[in-house]
Amino acid sequence: MKTLRVDLPGREYDIHMETGCLDTAGARVRAVCPRAKKLFVVTDTTVGPLYGRRLLDSLAGAGLEAGLFAVPAGEESKNAAMLARLWEEMMARGLTRTDAVVALGGGVVGDLAGFAAATILRGVDFVQIPTTLLAQVDSSVGGKVAVDLDHGKNLAGAFWQPRLVLMDPATLDTLPDATFADGMAEVVKYGCIFDRDFFDFLAARPSRAAVMGEIEHVLYTCCDLKRRVVVEDERDTGARMLLNFGHTVGHAFEKAGNYQTWTHGQAVAAGMVVAARLSVELGVLEDGGAVARLAELLEALGLPTRIQCGWDDIVEAVGLDKKSAGDHISFVLLEQLGRAVARRMPKGEVLQHLKAIYGG
Ligand code: NAD
Ligand code: GLY
Repeated sequence: MKTLRVDLPGREYDIHMETGCLDTAGARVRAVCPRAKKLFVVTDTTVGPLYGRRLLDSLAGAGLEAGLFAVPAGEESKNAAMLARLWEEMMARGLTRTDAVVALGGGVVGDLAGFAAATILRGVDFVQIPTTLLAQVDSSVGGKVAVDLDHGKNLAGAFWQPRLVLMDPATLDTLPDATFADGMAEVVKYGCIFDRDFFDFLAARPSRAAVMGEIEHVLYTCCDLKRRVVVEDERDTGARMLLNFGHTVGHAFEKAGNYQTWTHGQAVAAGMVVAARLSVELGVLEDGGAVARLAELLEALGLPTRIQCGWDDIVEAVGLDKKSAGDHISFVLLEQLGRAVARRMPKGEVLQHLKAIYGG
C-alpha cells in the first residue's frame, strides 16, 4: 500500500495505490466527499462488468447511494454528445451540488466523467478510479479533463482536480497486452524525461510480467514524478510541457492512421524515438547510444519505433501542436536519458531537421 499527496494549495488530494482497494473504496470516497449522498459512477461497457459490482458494493457498504452509467468502451465515447447525455442522466438521477462523480475506467472514462463533474451544476466533487496502466500513471493525476471535437482531440476541456485517485494494480491483470503496452509508452517516457535510474530499472525489466512484478514501484514512481510537475505547473505553461515528449510527432502518426491504425501509446513510442533522434541531430543529446537503448526497450515492450506517415502529416502536427505559438514551437528534446528540455525553435528549422531524420 502506498499513498502520495498532490499538494495543490486548497485542492490537495491523495493518490492511493493498493491491491484490493476497490473493495475498500467506499470508506475512502466517503472521507473525501463527506457531504455526498449520491454518487454517479461513470464507467464503460468493458470495465463495468469486470469491476462495477465490487465498487458499488463497497460504496453501498459506506452508506453511499451509487448508480452506474456505462458508456461504450473506446475513444468514440469521449465526445460532446456523450457529455450532454451524462449531464441529463445526472439530473434525471437527482444529483445535487454536494454529490459526486466517480470515474471507473481508463483515460476515456476519466476525461469524460471529469469534464462532466467540472461542468454539471458548475462543478461537483470528482473521484478517479483508473483501471488502465495509462490512466494510473498519467491521465488520472493532474486534473486535465476533456472531450474530443470533430476538429481534434481534447479540444474542449477544463482543469478539474479530483478529490482522490484510487488505484488497484490488480485491475491491470485483465488488460489486453496491447493496452498494457500503450501504458508502458508513458511509463518509459517518465524515465526518459525525468529519471535515468527509473529508465535503467525498466530496461532491466523489459516485459509485462517483469513490470507487473514491481508494479507498485512503477506506479509510485510515475505518479510521484507526475504530481511534482503538476504542483509546479498545474496550468501547463512550463515544466508540464515536458510530458509532451514524443507527442508532437506522435500526433502526426495517430492522425495519419486516422486514429485507427496506431494507438496513442504506439504513436508516442515512435514519436519519442524521432524526438530522441532530433535531439542528437541538434547536438542537444550527445550520447547517440541513448536512441538505440530507448528503441530497444520500446521494442521489447511490443511498441513500434518507426511509423511511416506522409510528410504533410508531420508538417501539420508541428504547425498545430499545442506547444506552438506563431512561427515557433517548443519542442521537447532529450539532453540525456533522464533529462528533457523544451527548446523553442522556429518551426521551419524543426521541420528541416525532421526531414533529414525522417526522409519525408
Ligand atoms: P481507454 O479508456 O479507452 O481504455 C482502453 C481500453 O481498455 C478500453 O477498451 C477499456 O474499456 C479497456 N479497459 C480499461 N480498463 C480495463 C481493465 N482493467 N481490464 C480490461 N479492459 C480495460 O484508453 P486509455 O488508454 O486508458 O486512455 C486514453 C485516453 O486518455 C485518451 O482519450 C487520452 O486523450 C486520454 N489521456 C488523458 C490525459 C490527461 O491528462 N487527462 C493524459 C493522457 C491521456
Ligand atoms: N498528459 C499530459 C498532462 O497531464 O499534462
